[in-house]
Amino acid sequence: MTQMDGRVGIGLLGCGTMGVEVALAVSEREVQNARIIAVFDEDPEATERLAEKLQPRPTACRTVEDLLATRDVSLVVECAAPAAIETYGETVLSEGRSLFILSSGALADTELFDRLINLATSNRCDIIIPSGALGGIDALRSVRDLLDSVTLTSTKTPRSFSGAPGFVEWEDIEITEPTILYEGPALEAVALFPANVNVAATMSIAGVGPKRTIVKVVADPESPGNVHEIHARGTFGEFTFRLVNQPHVRNPRTSHLAVLSAIETLRAYCDRGPSIGT
Ligand SMILES: NC(=O)c1ccc[n+]([C@@H]2O[C@H](COP(=O)([O-])OP(=O)(O)OC[C@H]3O[C@@H](n4cnc5c(N)ncnc54)[C@H](O)[C@@H]3O)[C@@H](O)[C@H]2O)c1
Repeated sequence: MTQMDGRVGIGLLGCGTMGVEVALAVSEREVQNARIIAVFDEDPEATERLAEKLQPRPTACRTVEDLLATRDVSLVVECAAPAAIETYGETVLSEGRSLFILSSGALADTELFDRLINLATSNRCDIIIPSGALGGIDALRSVRDLLDSVTLTSTKTPRSFSGAPGFVEWEDIEITEPTILYEGPALEAVALFPANVNVAATMSIAGVGPKRTIVKVVADPESPGNVHEIHARGTFGEFTFRLVNQPHVRNPRTSHLAVLSAIETLRAYCDRGPSIGT
């Protein structure tokens, strides 16, 4: 990993809820061995707003090319959208920069994921994927060759799904009781609910892939939070994890845990502290 001043130079891609929180954590030295050098968002105002908040002030970039051209950027932290990984992921790795991916939904495209892994290997850089809004990814990964079935049930309030392609027919309907919006392979779930089920993609790549991972998406007006239940069964035995995540105050689609997980994973990567449960 290339470093400046002994610290990892971060180029931040995406300056929304996650981007702001991650950048502030780095800037306030919650992550000691890193520095935000450049920021970019497709919304130039968001880029400027974040650059203004950080000390020292990073370069506010107009394009990803500018971000990559900024001296000493060795790690691109993506906090944008699956489309950003599709558009820029290969460029980042081809330029020899490591890539930290929050929009893991993009990786349900296994051909893209394979291309990214090959580029990372040939250019000697890293791909880092936090467990995000989920837990138990370490356990799932450990038993991936022994799995018979993996299911994820994600339950959120109806408004959390607004704007998703899979929610179009529900937008004008008042949902008054738990309603299954989708049940089937993760591959299709991430296309229908891209901003909601990154967790399904993360589970898929840790376990049995996006075709065999089964996802149920439920809208429940009484949901106590963003609830994710993982159930895995196989010759190793079986396990169930249930997470009741509080939505982030600024973005109900993003769980607070996902923000904390991103910061913790970044800390483990940059500060080279003990690697516990990863
Ligand atoms: N892995 C997980 O468990 C997990 C959990 C929560 C969120 N996420 C994902 O993390 C990402 C960021 O979440 P958020 O809550 O900060 O979202 P957000 O909507 O608050 O912010 C996203 C920002 O990225 C910018 N953006 C979108 N597409 C872009 C592109 N192609 N190029 C440059 N900028 C772009 C937007 O303008 C916006 O400012 C989303 O994809 C979200 O789905 C992952």
